[in-house]
Formats: sequence, C-alpha cells, structure tokens
Amino acid sequence: MFAVTIDGKAGCGKSTLADELSKILKLKKFNTGAVYRGITCEYMKQFGQLKPTLEIINNFVKDLAVDVIFDGNTQKIVVNGNDYTPYLRDEVVSNFVAKVSPYNIVREKVREIQRSFAEYNDCIMEGRDIGTVVLPNAQCKLFVTASSEVRAQRRFDQLKDTENAPTYEEILNEINDRDDKDVNREHGALLPAKDGIIIDNSNETLEQTVNRCKKIIEDKQKEYNKK
Ligand code: DC
Repeated sequence: MFAVTIDGKAGCGKSTLADELSKILKLKKFNTGAVYRGITCEYMKQFGQLKPTLEIINNFVKDLAVDVIFDGNTQKIVVNGNDYTPYLRDEVVSNFVAKVSPYNIVREKVREIQRSFAEYNDCIMEGRDIGTVVLPNAQCKLFVTASSEVRAQRRFDQLKDTENAPTYEEILNEINDRDDKDVNREHGALLPAKDGIIIDNSNETLEQTVNRCKKIIEDKQKEYNKK
C-alpha cells in the first residue's frame, strides 16, 4: 500500500491540506488528532476534568473500545459505543486532549488502529508522529510548518468577528504553549522524519501549498509504481 504522512505543528493547516490532497489524489484520509480527541471525550465522560495519572489511564485504556468508521469522506469516532464525532473540536476537548494523548498506553492503542488502516488503504495520514513512529516506512513523508506569528494571525482572522474572540496575543501564547507540549513530550514527540520533506507554508496560499505537495506525492507515486 502507498502511504503519505503529514506531520506538523498545530494550526499550520495540516487537516485542510490533507483533505484537499486526499480528494485530488484519491487517497483515504486518516486524521489522528480526531482519534485522540474521541478518546479524550470518553475520558471526560468517565472522569470529568480529573487530571489523569498513570494508574487511572492504565485502567481506562484496558476497557477501551475505539472504532474509527469511514462514511464517505467523514471519519467518525466511536468510543465504548459512544459516537463523539460532533464534539471532537469542542473547546473543552481541545483544552484537555494534551493531558490524555501523551500516555504511551494511549498512543499504543491509537497506533494499532493507524497501522491496520494503512495496511489496507492507500492513505494520507495526518498527525504528529506518523512519519517517525507510526508509519516509518511510508513512501512519502511531509512535515508541514509555519511561523507561530503567521499561524496566530490566520487563526485571529478566522475568529475576529465571533463573540468573545481572543486577542492576537492570546492566540499566539496558546500556539507557543501547544508547540512546546508537542515538541517536548516523552512519547510521540513532534519532529521531522530523517527522510521527511519540510513544507514551510508561512508565505504561501493554501492552493500553492496543495500544488507543491501534490507534485511531490505524484513523483513518489511514480517511483513506487515502478517497483
Ligand atoms: O491535530 P489536533 O489538534 O486535532 O490534535 C489533537 C491532539 O492530539 C493534540 O494535543 C496533539 C495530539 N496528537 C498527537 O499526540 N499525536 C498525533 N499523531 C496527532 C495528534
């Protein structure tokens, strides 16, 4: 099977990029953050905002049934029979997911699902540690980045006309904080794969980034098909 990995920092447009590329190149898209978010929803259903400990997480994961269901292009996340798809991007979940996702036992659970998906589907898998840990043999590895100032400005522009919109400085602080957590965690830390291609999209439109990545992937597909 042919796999493209897209890793990168929060807010640099990985998901939109993966969506566009999956449509153009007919590759199935797997969003890993959504799985961590679904697991976090179930954690919060059971424990509210109780800070996880290793013991709580070990017991929690032991009985965890995670289903990732594809309905056309929509990826549904069902955990212990509860469909959390509509709630994955709720602010309370966004704020809590980084407390649950760093545990190795959680990551092992997600990794199993990711690998079995890539075994049966030509895919684009998006996350933080896909090219380095989850699919180290993927044929094409992209590492997407943009300066924190550019990411903060993009987010600010999206939110500025909404009620209680955060200031640019608040968004920038939050982005720097999330980067710090992603880069410095013990398991599944965010870093480019040795054979990863760095895509800095700070000065590009989405269309320019899509076209650049499309060309890279198509070249890798040609190489793969020759073998
Ligand atoms: O990409 P996102 O914002 O939906 O990710 C949600 C959380 O999941 C974020 O805290 C980072 C974590 N995550 C991870 O640890 N490893 C991945 N491969 C993808 C996401």
